Amino acid sequence: MFGFVISASLRPAVTADEPFLWEMLYEASHAADQGLTVADLETIPALSRYVDGWGAGSDLGVIGGPAESPCGAAWLRLLTGADAGYGYVDDTTPELAIAVAAPARGTGLGTAMLERLVADAAGRYAAVSLSVREENPARRLYQRLGFVDVDGSRIVNRAGTTSITMVLPLR
Ligand SMILES: CC(C)(COP(=O)(O)OP(=O)(O)OC[C@H]1O[C@@H](n2cnc3c(N)ncnc32)[C@H](O)[C@@H]1OP(=O)(O)O)[C@@H](O)C(=O)NCCC(=O)NCCS
Repeated sequence: MFGFVISASLRPAVTADEPFLWEMLYEASHAADQGLTVADLETIPALSRYVDGWGAGSDLGVIGGPAESPCGAAWLRLLTGADAGYGYVDDTTPELAIAVAAPARGTGLGTAMLERLVADAAGRYAAVSLSVREENPARRLYQRLGFVDVDGSRIVNRAGTTSITMVLPLR
């Protein structure tokens, strides 16, 4: 029942959501594993580029959970040139970031947010990409929604493990 209620509580991400997106970026980037704080993210360009100045033209996001206390976000941003992200594939494909606050994980919110975001993105983009650690169970979620591994994209990440770029064609 709880899973159904929060899954149904989705809304578009707006400019005012930037502080919450920093919190969600902290979860999405597993920054706690490196002893970082949320404030530290703003000083790390490889991470801050996913959220800094949220609300620009290419940005598209979904916020999930109760209106007064959201607990998840899935968002897209076109990151190109010097700002290319970990999951860069080309200059027209935005990169996905997604996280759900730890207590709310495993209730279906991540799936609901991602399905909504992909539907919203379909009219705007030809594909969506992401970078994920090979051992992250989220890979199953991405595969279920149709994301496929990009050949030759395995890299050693900040944690010293392997990350893979995945892409979802939308057309
Ligand atoms: C990945 C994540 C956004 C999914 O959100 P969620 O609400 O937990 O997702 P759902 O309940 O819809 O479950 C979908 C999948 O999420 C993953 N998942 C579920 N609970 C999880 C947990 N406690 N920890 C990590 N992944 C989990 C699983 O892959 C699950 O699929 P499965 O049932 O086939 O194993 C969320 O678990 C999370 O924030 N994880 C930590 C941050 C992260 O890794 N973000 C992605 C970086 S690429």
